[in-house]
Amino acid sequence: MPESRCLQGIWSSPWIFIFAASGSAVGLGNIWKFPYVLGENGGGAFLVVYCLCLLLVGLPVLIAEVALGRTVRSNPIDTVNDLSERRIVHPAWVLVPWLAGITGFLILTFYSVIAGWSIAYLDRAVTGEFNNITQVGASSMFNELLATPSEMLLWHSVFMGLVVLTVGQSVTRGLSAVVRILLPMLVVTLVLLACYSMMIGNMSEALNFMFRWSWQNITFDVVLAAVGLALFSLSVGMGAMFAYGAYMSKRMSIARACSIVVGVDLLVALLAGLVIFPLVFSFDIDVQAGPSLTFVSLPIIFGNLLGGQFFAGVFFLLLVVAALTSAISMLELFVAWLHEKFYIARLKAALLMGLAVWFVGIAVLLSLNHWDSKLMYGLNLFELLDKFTSLILLPVGAILLSVLVAWFIPRSMLQNEMIAKQTSHFQWWYKTLKYISIPAMIVITLAGWIGA
Ligand code: PHE
Repeated sequence: MPESRCLQGIWSSPWIFIFAASGSAVGLGNIWKFPYVLGENGGGAFLVVYCLCLLLVGLPVLIAEVALGRTVRSNPIDTVNDLSERRIVHPAWVLVPWLAGITGFLILTFYSVIAGWSIAYLDRAVTGEFNNITQVGASSMFNELLATPSEMLLWHSVFMGLVVLTVGQSVTRGLSAVVRILLPMLVVTLVLLACYSMMIGNMSEALNFMFRWSWQNITFDVVLAAVGLALFSLSVGMGAMFAYGAYMSKRMSIARACSIVVGVDLLVALLAGLVIFPLVFSFDIDVQAGPSLTFVSLPIIFGNLLGGQFFAGVFFLLLVVAALTSAISMLELFVAWLHEKFYIARLKAALLMGLAVWFVGIAVLLSLNHWDSKLMYGLNLFELLDKFTSLILLPVGAILLSVLVAWFIPRSMLQNEMIAKQTSHFQWWYKTLKYISIPAMIVITLAGWIGA
């Protein structure tokens, strides 16, 4: 299909896909989730398993999603419909992009609440509330925020408003410019903060914790958490990269672009860990603190840093923008579909979806205070959505998407999609996806569920 046929437009340069896909991948998953999941799962052992998951599961599945998107150049739902009309796949496969879209929707309901915390912290940062803060002060600041639904609602609404406005525009406009500036700035800021944190914090214990490998710490729970986080962090298994693949220029090698995205994603996560863990150990914060870990340790570093108010402002601003570039990719699937299928203006479609997310998000933020009932397995709605999406929906979505690509789409069609010169890349990817990624995801996910 000629490049001009895609309704939403094509990224104007091959590099723009890399920026946009990295924008989707790099987000709260790297800075908020990676450190606390690493903390909960024993550090170094988790990191090794996580890197293996990125390489052997995340990367092949990412390539599969992007390749599938680029073959038909339509939104994921219509792509599969188109393939079934051409009798390439069974019509039942259309359930897969639907599942993917629903997963993205559900992730956004709690992602927006956490992004709201980041805006709340941006507000506190610029007003100097971190100055000379102690560990006890930082913990109570976070707990107070969780206990104040009105404030969380305000920032959740602001964030969803920004998401709707951004997704409402064409994805080819604006986004790449933002990410092109954001990513280098985020990396530089994190490097500076990591250096500072290692200077004032307990560097040796942090490095020991993050990079020391020990077999005993590896359990199925650790492996399941690593797969879940790898998929979440790379934004795969829920159609975001599938949708972005449709806008990717044919001139770009998919394998190369995706490898860069994985590298950037891991780099940002490691830097976030190097910022947070030296403080965690020197201020005796519990490594297993869970979702509060990042939000308690960051104010301490800024509160004690020369020029901390400025750095804190910059950092939280970058974090909010990083969350925004991820969040927009979660709505892209349904927005593109509504626009292409029913000719609904993008802004209207985004508003419709955004409102639905916003409503569910209210229940999510209330589950952290007034409505803290344990719905299942002792988890409240917030925890349930976080675990349910990353341990069940994302792996299932990733398995089904990969099975579709590896076993049902004709090999020749895929081969054409992955630049012909690089046959070795193709072979490596195809075999890994078929014989390593898919079986590994099935075994790990099932074993994790049985063990749970
Ligand atoms: N990858 C994003 C992050 O790390 C989150 C995300 C998940 C984005 C799924 C899109 C789809 O924050």
